[in-house]
Amino acid sequence: MKALVVYSSLTSNTKKLADALYGVLQCEKDLVSITDNPDPSGYDFVAVGFWLQKGAPDEKTQEFLPKIGEKEVFLFATHGAAKDSDHARNAMNKAKELAAPARICGTYNCPGQVTEKMMEKAATKDPPPPWFAEAPAAKGHPDEEDIRQLVHLFNELGLP
Ligand SMILES: Cc1cc2nc3c(=O)[nH]c(=O)nc-3n(C[C@H](O)[C@H](O)[C@H](O)COP(=O)(O)O)c2cc1C
Repeated sequence: MKALVVYSSLTSNTKKLADALYGVLQCEKDLVSITDNPDPSGYDFVAVGFWLQKGAPDEKTQEFLPKIGEKEVFLFATHGAAKDSDHARNAMNKAKELAAPARICGTYNCPGQVTEKMMEKAATKDPPPPWFAEAPAAKGHPDEEDIRQLVHLFNELGLP
C-alpha cells in the first residue's frame, strides 16, 4: 500500500491537516504540495486537502482532482464558512464530482482562519460573500480539536 497526501494551502490552514494525516498514515507515504504538480499514478490511496475559493475547491485542486482516476480517495478541506454549512457541504460535493471515478472513502472539513486582508476585501463586496458572516468564528482554526477529530475519523474509517 502506497499513500499520497496532496495539499493546496496558501496560508497553512489546510497544510496543518495534511501534516496530521501524513503523520498517522501507517504505510509507505509521500506528502506533496499541489504546487509541485503531484503525480497520483503509482499510489493506491490519495488524500487531497484544499481550501474553499468562490464556494468551491480552490482552482489548483479543481485541476488536480480529475487526474486521480479510479483510486481510494479521502478529501479534506478548510474554509471561512461554518463547519456544517450548506456552503461547505456544496463545495465538498463539487470536489467529489470532480474526483469521479475515484472511490471516496471519507471526507472531513473544518473552519480555517481567514486573513485580515481577505476579510477587508470581502467586506467591500455588496453583498458580502456567503461565508463572510461566519468567518470571524474561524479564527484560530484549525485547532487541536479539529485535528483530533480528523485523526479520529481517519482511524475509524480504517484507512492505511
Ligand atoms: C481569495 C479567497 C477566497 C476565499 N473564498 C472562500 C469561499 O468561497 N468560501 C469559504 O468558506 N472560505 C473562503 N475563503 C477562506 C479560506 O478558504 C480559508 O481561510 C482557508 O482555511 C484557507 O486555507 P489555507 O490556509 O490552507 O490557504 C477564501 C479565502 C481567500 C483568500
